[in-house]
Amino acid sequence: RRRCAVLISGRGSNMAALLAAAANPAYPAEIVLVLANKAGAGGLARAAEAGIPTAIVESRPFGRDRAAFEAAMEAELAQHGVELIALAGFMRVLTEGFVSRWAGRMVNIHPSLLPSFPGVDTHARALAAGVRLHGCTVHLVTPGVDEGPIIAQAAVPVLAGDDEHSLGARVLEQEHALYPAALALVAQGRVRVEGARAVVADQPGPDAAAL
Ligand code: GAR
Repeated sequence: RRRCAVLISGRGSNMAALLAAAANPAYPAEIVLVLANKAGAGGLARAAEAGIPTAIVESRPFGRDRAAFEAAMEAELAQHGVELIALAGFMRVLTEGFVSRWAGRMVNIHPSLLPSFPGVDTHARALAAGVRLHGCTVHLVTPGVDEGPIIAQAAVPVLAGDDEHSLGARVLEQEHALYPAALALVAQGRVRVEGARAVVADQPGPDAAAL
């Protein structure tokens, strides 16, 4: 099983969905570390309850020195033998150096149907734009924020009377199913990048161990 770290900044409901999936020994990734950049991240307690090692690397004290913050994170990742990273509500933008070191081995979940609505406040922006479909995306992380090759998406309807909370809750339910499924594809070595696109193989590749 691929050794995976989940990086969080907040409540960690997607992290919890990944932990639940990985609790099955047949799941192709094992969550070996939950790392938060905020000591108050609610997900830390949930991870600890599940018996998963946790680490806090506070980003705030590093100020604008993102490379130093990332070096501190790399030390934790190395200590736990991490091979794959899943960003799950991790609200820090990573440097190009960090992203390229983890190219093809780091995924993110974003609460919109990318390339629509990158960035924050996606549900309010979807409502303001009047779209009839909204959803979530799991993608490989590249230096451009929310721009990496798309691995999987799930769509939900926007209903009359929705506000950002009702719409966000409908999307979040889909996130919890989509993320474990998409991370499994990466852990099985089934995701290959062709230009700007990710191509997903039907079967785990012979080089699944090499990613
Ligand atoms: C999720 O909706 C996730 O898609 C989003 O933050 C929320 C975290 O919730 N991520 C981003 O906006 C990334 N830019 P969670 O902590 O309960 O998983």
